[in-house]
Amino acid sequence: MPRISTSLIRKASRIRPGLHLLLPECRTLEQAKLEYKWLAEELPPGRSIRWACFQRYNHVPLQYILRSQPFGPLEIVCKPGVLIPRWETEEWVMDLVKILSNSALLSNNDPLHICDTFTGTGCIALALSHGIPNSSFTVIDVSRKAIELVKENMLKNKVSKGKLIQRNILSSNGCNEYPSHIDILTGNPPYIRKRHFIRDVTTSVKLFEPRLALIGELECYENLVDHWLSKTNSFFYEIGDFDQFSYVQNRIKDDSNLSRIWSVGLKYDSNGNPRVVYGFKATPKGSILLQILEPFGTIKYLATALSRHKANSK
Ligand SMILES: C[S@@+](CC[C@H](N)C(=O)[O-])C[C@H]1O[C@@H](n2cnc3c(N)ncnc32)[C@H](O)[C@@H]1O
Repeated sequence: MPRISTSLIRKASRIRPGLHLLLPECRTLEQAKLEYKWLAEELPPGRSIRWACFQRYNHVPLQYILRSQPFGPLEIVCKPGVLIPRWETEEWVMDLVKILSNSALLSNNDPLHICDTFTGTGCIALALSHGIPNSSFTVIDVSRKAIELVKENMLKNKVSKGKLIQRNILSSNGCNEYPSHIDILTGNPPYIRKRHFIRDVTTSVKLFEPRLALIGELECYENLVDHWLSKTNSFFYEIGDFDQFSYVQNRIKDDSNLSRIWSVGLKYDSNGNPRVVYGFKATPKGSILLQILEPFGTIKYLATALSRHKANSK
């Protein structure tokens, strides 16, 4: 990464006292000015702008200083120890909300149950339940801090009902608290490969965000196929690379039972990176969701049951 020039540091400190302290994180004067404005406007009471600029100089994430992050129409409370929601997640979640909330095919008498694994702040479940009328949700996370923060976020966003479960998802497969029937299973598991962590992750993230929320290989996708597909009509799991998509797709394709009933899709984000692996089951509800969510991404593998049904209806 190129060093910041002394002339740029001088220029920034002449514009506003403390502005130069934002340059190491912001990199450009324009971005630093924008961040300074947010800090000046949104700082929690009792905190000075000088304090905030020093925090940023020490790589503290902006959202931990301002204590929140917008996520679609919601304001999500953020606290150290729990991952800050990312724009990549917000993008696909809001795409889902947009399509589902406009659909005439969803009947009000047939509510959708959403289950969000690896929930963190609860941003995914809260945005979906806010946007999809007549839905209910369950969220699961191993971290006590995360579950406490979901409660805070429910209060902040005036959501009164929802089931919160604190569990290690990878070692509690038969947990009887889990919902037995799910329509939309979502998850943003830890997926940054250990070998890429040092190379790809910024200093701020490395120093301040929980590694438990970040580092993962294929274990959460293995858990998805082994333990969640039997319970849900559809799933949407965020991914960090194409191999995580291929893993899920191949596990389904190579299994004679799963391949009969599951269609699998891939969604890219607006930066062109593979971002979500998703699927629909050949059940009445799963087929309706497949029909509604056609614009969400690209179906790469169509279940044999659904292909046959499509061919017969032509
Ligand atoms: C990438 S963060 C996602 C947070 C949130 N869903 C979001 O999109 O911003 C992953 C979350 O998974 C949780 N987690 C990691 N391993 C887990 C496990 N084995 N069981 C349950 N939760 C786990 C972490 O505590 C963290 O909150």
